[in-house]
Amino acid sequence: MKALVYEGPGKLLLEDRPVPAIVNPTDALVKVTKTTICGTDLHILKGDVPTCVPGRILGHEGVGVVEEAGTGVTEFKKGDHVLISCISSCGKCRHCRAGMYSHCATGGWILGHTIDGTQAEYVRIPHADASLYHIPEGADEEALVMLSDILPTGFECGVLNGRVQPGCTVAIVGSGPIGLAALLTAQFYSPAELIMVDIDQARLDIARHFGATAVINGSGKRAAEQILALTGGRGVDTAIEAVGTAETFELCEDIIAPGGVIANVGVHGGKSDLHLEKLWSHNIAITTRLVDTVSMPMLLKTVQSGKIDPKKLITHHFALDEILGAYETFGHAAKTGALKVIIETPAAIGAEVKSEKQVGTGTPAVDDWTCDLVTRSGLVLHVRPVRTADEAALAEFFAHVTPQDLRFRFLGGVRQVSHERLVAMTDVDHRLTENFLACTDSGETIVATAMLACDEGFDRGELAISVRADFKHKGVAWELLRHVARYAEAKGLKALESVESRENHEAIELEREQGFVAEFYPDDPTLVLIRKVFHKS
Ligand SMILES: NC(=O)c1ccc[n+]([C@@H]2O[C@H](COP(=O)([O-])OP(=O)(O)OC[C@H]3O[C@@H](n4cnc5c(N)ncnc54)[C@H](O)[C@@H]3O)[C@@H](O)[C@H]2O)c1
Ligand SMILES: [Zn+2]
Ligand SMILES: [Zn+2]
Repeated sequence: MKALVYEGPGKLLLEDRPVPAIVNPTDALVKVTKTTICGTDLHILKGDVPTCVPGRILGHEGVGVVEEAGTGVTEFKKGDHVLISCISSCGKCRHCRAGMYSHCATGGWILGHTIDGTQAEYVRIPHADASLYHIPEGADEEALVMLSDILPTGFECGVLNGRVQPGCTVAIVGSGPIGLAALLTAQFYSPAELIMVDIDQARLDIARHFGATAVINGSGKRAAEQILALTGGRGVDTAIEAVGTAETFELCEDIIAPGGVIANVGVHGGKSDLHLEKLWSHNIAITTRLVDTVSMPMLLKTVQSGKIDPKKLITHHFALDEILGAYETFGHAAKTGALKVIIETPAAIGAEVKSEKQVGTGTPAVDDWTCDLVTRSGLVLHVRPVRTADEAALAEFFAHVTPQDLRFRFLGGVRQVSHERLVAMTDVDHRLTENFLACTDSGETIVATAMLACDEGFDRGELAISVRADFKHKGVAWELLRHVARYAEAKGLKALESVESRENHEAIELEREQGFVAEFYPDDPTLVLIRKVFHKS
């Protein structure tokens, strides 16, 4: 199998490794589908984590499918879709019984640290019963990758430890993935003020979209002055430190109001000054914590119910083969704008194909939607669902689509149309995705494709249409959009969406003509969100 291996400070290699085997009866072998990179992996790469030795497969986050369960595993079986916690826990030792999984006598943070991790095609998960979570049917597995580490970290170490209360004032220092996860989950408690501090304006702009009531670009004493000014000189009830430096910890000391809590989340490599001479009489508390992931079941429910959308943290996608590029992108976040990057293994596709057979009930059969359409330029199009035999023709088609036309969000992964992608795309029943193609009258040339992906509840569908460069401006996209929109409506979909580049006036106009409404895309001013509501829920 392919695996990303730490080979010493500054050195990473994508290597071929044997598939791991079950060692203890309580282990499970998980076929990883999606994983991601954590700031902690960058610390390891720098050589800051000496307990992680060269030769280690990195990664402590991800989702996958159980390939094999040890004889002592009772909660999981082969084929179960699972979320992997970054913390392994036996569930039985003294610390586990106290809910402190991070200090499990035979677990804790070991994945991608002292044992091989998730940035590989397979991973061995010790204490599987307590370290894996069932993925609810229909859940967006990619969004759940954010639950392996960063959401519980922001929530447990920042929000819970920081005792965020309704009406209180919170400052979060550091607007990276962890600070933003704290920002999202702090809102469970309706604080009155949520002030985000960072030195990267792009991250602060994101924080605004995620619900920050004020953002401060700065650090140290100047940031402290601004926060005191914002709070009438009082300071904040909760100061969450989500950077991990002396400067930012000391900033928290400068802005904490009497009776407040400083909740440290950041990993510190050095000491920080504790100004007890100022703080001794202020009734403040300082908390520290290594994430336990005890909040996982609760967070899963909030994601399922749509109370929070952790997918907002995902900015980039890569195939496992491209993981070194993913590290580059993630490691230069100020330049690339990266927050969390998703890395998909080849199994991502295989796993989804397997689960698809359970869905698609009570809807018009896709084959009924085969027909001939005539575009405004008189071109006759034969439209039909994509079939397995189309794989080669589709590969040829995608070679003739301009990169701009592959801009759609969920087509991101098609940028370089890998074999695996094509195989997945040519399965007509592929989960809740329906792929149509339009070919010339003779059936020889594929002119366009339309890919419709719906969530399990049919609340939202996303559509991407690609037209061959030499068949543009002939009304092909218009006809195909109308056809697929009718199909989606008949299938009971509530709303159909598409994400367009703001510059793509032509496509936006075309969609408007068909009753779609365009609005700014929440997190990216270069995009617009196009939506048509068919059935009110
Ligand atoms: N306690 C735990 O269990 C736990 C778990 C995971 C991560 N962490 C730690 O949480 C911290 C945050 O993680 P992340 O992934 O969001 O990291 P990150 O590096 O992506 O984000 C840190 C943010 O802090 C900002 N920053 C840097 N210096 C600053 C300064 N002087 N003033 C204001 N902002 C400044 C950066 O611009 C960046 O946006 C890290 O230290 C990480 O190791 C802790
Ligand atoms: Zn992590
Ligand atoms: Zn334990």
